[in-house]
Amino acid sequence: MSILHARQLSAGYGPVTVLHDIELVVEEGEIVVILGANGAGKTTTMRAVSGTIPRQGSVELNGHDITKLSPDAIVRQGVAQVPQGRGTFPELSVHDNLRAGAITRHDGSAAVAADMERWYGQFPRLAERKDQRAGSLSGGEQQMLAIARALMSRPKLLLCDEPSLGLAPLITQELFAVIERLNKEEGLSVLLVEQNANLAMHMASRVYLLETGRIVAEGSAEELSADDTIRKAYLGF
Ligand SMILES: Nc1ncnc2c1ncn2[C@@H]1O[C@H](COP(=O)(O)OP(=O)(O)O)[C@@H](O)[C@H]1O
Ligand SMILES: [Mg+2]
Repeated sequence: MSILHARQLSAGYGPVTVLHDIELVVEEGEIVVILGANGAGKTTTMRAVSGTIPRQGSVELNGHDITKLSPDAIVRQGVAQVPQGRGTFPELSVHDNLRAGAITRHDGSAAVAADMERWYGQFPRLAERKDQRAGSLSGGEQQMLAIARALMSRPKLLLCDEPSLGLAPLITQELFAVIERLNKEEGLSVLLVEQNANLAMHMASRVYLLETGRIVAEGSAEELSADDTIRKAYLGF
């Protein structure tokens, strides 16, 4: 069963429709990448899935219709979002940011503390900076914190919106390695938005190309890069 299946998903802002009837599938254990130019509607897609903007169409999680649920309820159902531009509380410490990520949970403080230790294990640089203000971390560290914070809600599906934005290539590689490890070791399914095709293609199970709010191509990284027209027009290599 697909972990995520969105059908005829449309969304926009006020009278303007940005996203037009897209169908989006993430199978359990996949890393699915949405590629598209600036303004293509990638962030809008993430918001439509997470329910943070009004949308039409349907969104199913593990076969259950979550279309009518509130954003909080969708988090509780196992979808966590790392919004574009980090999504941490800059004035709070690293530790308190992680604690805030567990706000939708009701399984007790021992379980939350155990998960914090687990993510400190996966992100040693955050462990070293537990008491530091999030706002004082480097860009890469803040992005790691945003991901760790999202993981604190115990998601089955992580939505990650351009985590590489503003990061140096080496830091981005490190960040993507962490996402791949979480996918392999923790079985986390990931829907990742990227503008940079080169960076994201190699770790994608499948790729969607989004252009002005419509999906114009879909396939494995190999399938898409084998198509000369697609490669030249959208992938930039
Ligand atoms: N909050 C908003 N209010 C109005 N229009 C918006 C808002 N956010 C995005 N848009 C518009 O929606 C379109 C798609 O934007 P977005 O989803 O952010 O694209 P991407 O993430 O692919 O760069 C753009 O034309 C953008 O101007
Ligand atoms: Mg965006």
